[in-house]
Parts: sequence; structure tokens; C-alpha cells
Amino acid sequence: MIDRLRALGAAARQALEEAQSESEVEEARIAFLGRKSELNRISRGLGTLSDGERREVGRAVNQLKSDLKGLLEEAKSRVASGTGGAGGLDVTLPGRRPWVGRKHPLTRTLDRLEEIFLGLGFEVAVGPHIEDDFHNFEALNFPADHPARDEHDTFYVEGGGLLRTHTSPVQIRVMQTRKPPIRIVAPGRVFRNETPDASHGSEFFQLEGLYVDRDVRFGELKGVLIKFLRELYGENVGVRLRPGFFPFTEPSAEVDVECRICRGRGCGVCKGTGWVELLGSGMVDPRVFAAVGYDPDEVSGYAFGLGIDRIAMMMTGVDDIRLFLENDLRFLRQI
Ligand code: FA5
Repeated sequence: MIDRLRALGAAARQALEEAQSESEVEEARIAFLGRKSELNRISRGLGTLSDGERREVGRAVNQLKSDLKGLLEEAKSRVASGTGGAGGLDVTLPGRRPWVGRKHPLTRTLDRLEEIFLGLGFEVAVGPHIEDDFHNFEALNFPADHPARDEHDTFYVEGGGLLRTHTSPVQIRVMQTRKPPIRIVAPGRVFRNETPDASHGSEFFQLEGLYVDRDVRFGELKGVLIKFLRELYGENVGVRLRPGFFPFTEPSAEVDVECRICRGRGCGVCKGTGWVELLGSGMVDPRVFAAVGYDPDEVSGYAFGLGIDRIAMMMTGVDDIRLFLENDLRFLRQI
């Protein structure tokens, strides 16, 4: 009798596990737990058994009934949710394409800039995000009371130091540790306490350039920048140099490119002017050379600092700089 119950249990288990629809589950229930089932017949015949047998078989019958009720509930919920078994699988559906990650648009832009400048003979240098007053301002000819400091709304760090407001302090660090000729670019994150808008972030990226040697001329600066912008945007890109002011360069020039978002017609990014300011530049001021211990009568050089985010905007057509650092994958997957 016990062996028969075991065999019934195995058959019922198989039938319930293989059932693919509610009606198949119900068929199995009727066959193994229904009124006319063999299990029910054995249960009803318990009274005819001897005391010892009745106890043993009764226990096995109750155990089997309770096991089968559990399996029945499992089978019901499985077919209701459509999971498991070949019946829940639509083999005609196309497969899910695995999502492949890629570099952030700012990183891709930076890679491209480095590639161009490495091709022009520059090497890459880096400096710290937390700077001191000397490297960020003083050595760059911004004395404490100089009005040019007002342009840099600075985040000061508790206990001293500040978040660098530009990549120019890397110029100082490199010149302090090396002798000319120097030809470096220094990319990195910078911070300004500004109210963000479509073209201004309070955290953004710059790439600094510095060339120091003997008899360096302004024409070389202009030539390198135009060559760089043509490599980046193509031969026909509109470029203009405007007189500018930076305490650490003299003479200085702001460099604009024709807005790639509106093709010069005027939009929110270029504030209706058709031009976007991409970089500041100029000939290194003799006071900067003096601050790092170089003889200004011996050496000369040029420097420039460009906004990587704005270049990324022009390259991708993104019209709001704030989107880059929001880390919204719905945005990042599109570009
Ligand atoms: C400077 O930061 C100078 N250190 C650049 C320089 C280096 C001049 C070497 C001369 C020699 P400026 O504040 O203009 O300059 O910033 C340089 C570039 O950074 C701008 O042309 C612009 O492209 C970008 N930029 C400036 N402010 C922001 C901002 N809030 N958000 C995004 N990009 C910005």
C-alpha cells in the first residue's frame, strides 16, 4: 500500500509539473485528488485495515494529500503568470540585445582634443582640483585686491585651499618643476560659483595649453589655434579672435567659433550672436615667468585655456551644458 502511495505521488507530481494550462492543472487535480481518485479510494478504505496498518497508511495518505495540495497551488500560480515551461516562452520573439556601454561625451571630446594636440607636439600634464591661492591666483598675476579676481566666483575649502577656477595653475606647477622648452596641454575639471544656464556650468572642464621657449611669437599661437579648430570642425569653420584681458597674458585674445548649433543664425546657446566663445589665450605675461623663477628676457611663450563642455556642445548639437553632468542615461544613450 505504501509503495502504491509512493507511485501515485510520483505520477501526480509529474502531471502537475508538466501541466501547461489551467485546464491541465484541473485535470491532474481531479485525477489525483478528486472524489474518484485512487488516493481518495485508499483514504476511504482505511477503516478496513488492521490498527497498525491503518496508522501507518493513514499517516502516508495525509502526508501525500498535503504535498499534492502544495504542488497544486504552485502549478496554478505558474500557469496563471505564464512563467516556466515551454508554454510561457514565445520562441518567435526577437532576442534582447545586450546593452554595451560607451564613453561619456565629455570624455570622447577630451580624447579627440588630446589626439589633436599630441599630433601637434604637445604632451599631457595634470594638476590637483584643490589648489592654493598662490597657484590659482597669485603666481598668475592676480594680486589679492586685483579686480580680475571678481570674475572668478571661487569655492573656498574649509581649512584653506580652494577649488581651482581654471586649469591655468597647472602652467605654474609645470614651470616650477621643469625648464623650457615646455609644450603641454592640461585637461581637467574646474569649479566656479556661478548660476548655471544653457552655456554656463558651476562645474565644467577646461584644457590648458602652454608653450614656452625662446622667441615665441603671437603668430605661432594664432596658427596653432586655427589649425586645432580646423582639425576639430573642418576647414571651413568660422573663427574670430577678439582682444581680451587676462592678468597672466599680454596681449590676450578671446577666440570664438561660429555657433554650430544654429550655424551662425543666432540661438540660445550663442545668445543670438551666432558666435560661441571657446577659449581664452595670449602671450605669457613676464610677471608669470618671474613668479616661477624664469628670466622674462630669456624666454617667451603663449598659453590658452578652452572650455571642453562648450566644444562637446558644438560637436554633439546638445544645446544645454547642464545635461552633461546630470548622468541621465536617457540623454547619454542618445549621443
Ligand atoms: C580662463 O579660465 C583662463 N584661464 C583661460 C586662459 C588660459 C586665458 C591661458 C589665457 C591663457 P575664461 O574664464 O574665459 O578664461 O574661461 C575659458 C573658457 O572656459 C571659456 O572660453 C569657455 O569656453 C569656458 N568657460 C568659462 N566659464 C564657463 C562656465 N561657467 N561653464 C562652461 N564653460 C565655461
